[in-house]
Parts: sequence; structure tokens; C-alpha cells
Amino acid sequence: MSTQSEFRDKTVLITGASNGIGAETAALFGEAGARVIVHYNKAADQAATVLSRVRESGGDGQVLQGDLTTMAGCRELISQIRGTGRSIDILVNNAGSLIKRTPILQFTQELWDQVMTLNLTSAFFLSQAVLPGMVEKKRGVIVNVGSIAGRNGGGMGASAYSIAKAAISTMTRSFAKEFSPHGIRVNCVSPGTIDTNYHRTFSTQAMLDSIAAATPMGRLGTAREVAEVILFLCSCRSNFIQGQTIEVNGGFMMP
Ligand SMILES: NC(=O)c1ccc[n+]([C@@H]2O[C@H](COP(=O)([O-])OP(=O)(O)OC[C@H]3O[C@@H](n4cnc5c(N)ncnc54)[C@H](OP(=O)(O)O)[C@@H]3O)[C@@H](O)[C@H]2O)c1
Repeated sequence: MSTQSEFRDKTVLITGASNGIGAETAALFGEAGARVIVHYNKAADQAATVLSRVRESGGDGQVLQGDLTTMAGCRELISQIRGTGRSIDILVNNAGSLIKRTPILQFTQELWDQVMTLNLTSAFFLSQAVLPGMVEKKRGVIVNVGSIAGRNGGGMGASAYSIAKAAISTMTRSFAKEFSPHGIRVNCVSPGTIDTNYHRTFSTQAMLDSIAAATPMGRLGTAREVAEVILFLCSCRSNFIQGQTIEVNGGFMMP
């Protein structure tokens, strides 16, 4: 089956699709003719641009807004998703941020809760919200976006973020075991350092240069390169891949 025909009648929800990896993933699904729900938090204009790209390339969709740092925000987004009347075929739990680099001794419980809710808890409950529809159809795919930080403890000030990203890999395996008998696949993509707004916000050029120099491929990754792996994990070309975390890091860390 061609990717074009495989996704043509599918509804894909991508969190954090206004920028970076999520935006490129939305664009790829648009090229494949899917109906894409483009979630964003603050970047309404960018989300609208992503939806235009989706439509221009043959797909369709809509935008939904939601702040995923609080459970109230997660519940509100879930209610908006239900309000669309669409059953989700593919969920990409991509929204994430370290919010602000903070040394462990300066961490407040408020910041901890925000980082964990955005990077872990929201993915758990969004998955829980869409899974009954997938179970009913006996098919569905969830791809979680982890991070190399989940394996190496993260850069300076990224402790809670890295802990959440490590848990995303474990969550992927738990969900895969429980929902595999229902025809649902759950996998995780774990990017290394990818050239997106994330690093324009949280990293210096010197930090990025040193990471590129320490990467066997000699450069940072692109959002498109991660999006291609996400699309692959959602496609029938990966039908026997279940509960895995796929590293996309240019060889920076090899298992
Ligand atoms: N870039 C990397 O090197 C790298 C490495 C490993 C893992 N990752 C992971 O990859 C995913 C995408 O990152 P990216 O590099 O593409 O980052 P990005 O360009 O900064 O995009 C982040 C996306 O997440 C959304 N988001 C941020 N805070 C949010 C909040 N409070 N509530 C809801 N949505 C929120 C943003 O929405 P708005 O812009 O609309 O606010 C945006 O769409 C994240 O999970 C990140 O942790 C990135």
C-alpha cells in the first residue's frame, strides 16, 4: 500500500504541531492526504500556517489550542478533541519542553509538576482518551516523542525533563503490551539534538557546536528527519515494530 492511500482516510492528532518536529510531521501527513488535527499552545499563527501547508499538499484538518502543563489544560484539550466528533486513528504525543533550565536545588514543586505534566502526564491521558476508539476499530497507532535526555540525564538544568522523557519510553512499553492484543501499536522516537526553536530557546550556539562536533555525522538533525521516522512508525511498513524506542541522533549515542 502506498503511503498516500494508507493515510488518506485517517485522522491524525499531533500535539505541539505548530513548530519544529510536530509541524514537519503534520506537513508529511498532509502530503499523505491525512486529516490532521494540529495542536498548539501559544503559536496560533504558526499553527494556522501548518494547517495551510497540510491543505495545500492534499490533506485537511483543523487546529486546536491547549496548554498541557496543567491537568485542567489536558482535560480541556481532551474535551475539544471529543467535540470534533472525530475518532483518532493516529496520535503523536509530541508536545514537550524543558520550560526553563533549572538546577536541581532550585526546583520548585510547581515547576516539577509543569514539566512532568507537559512531557509525560499529558501523553498518558491523551492516549487514554483516544484508545477506546482505537480498541473499537481494532486498529490504531500511537507514537510518543522521547529524547536522548531520557538516557543520558539531559543537559544542565534539564533533570525533570530528562526524567519525564525516560518515563515516556517505559510508558510506551506498558501501553504496547496492554493494547497490542487490540491491534494497536505504540512506539517512541527518541531524537538527539535537532535544529528547532527548542534549542534557539534553551541552548547557546557554543553548546550546539560542541554537540555537532561530538556527533559522528558531524551535524545536528533536522525536524524533517525525525518526522520521517514518525511517519514510518505510523505506517504499515513498521507493522511488526511494537513497544520500541527508535533513536534518531546521528550516532551521538549508540546503544
Ligand atoms: N529539538 C530537539 O533537539 C529535541 C531533542 C529531543 C526531544 N525533543 C522533543 O521533541 C518534541 C518537539 O520538540 P521541538 O524540538 O520540535 O520543539 P519546538 O520547536 O519548541 O516545538 C515544541 C512544540 O510543543 C508545544 N508546546 C510547548 N509548550 C507547550 C505547552 N505548555 N502546552 C502545549 N504545547 C506546548 C509548542 O507549542 P507552541 O509553540 O504553540 O507554544 C510547539 O508546538 C518535544 O517533545 C521535545 O522534548 C526535541
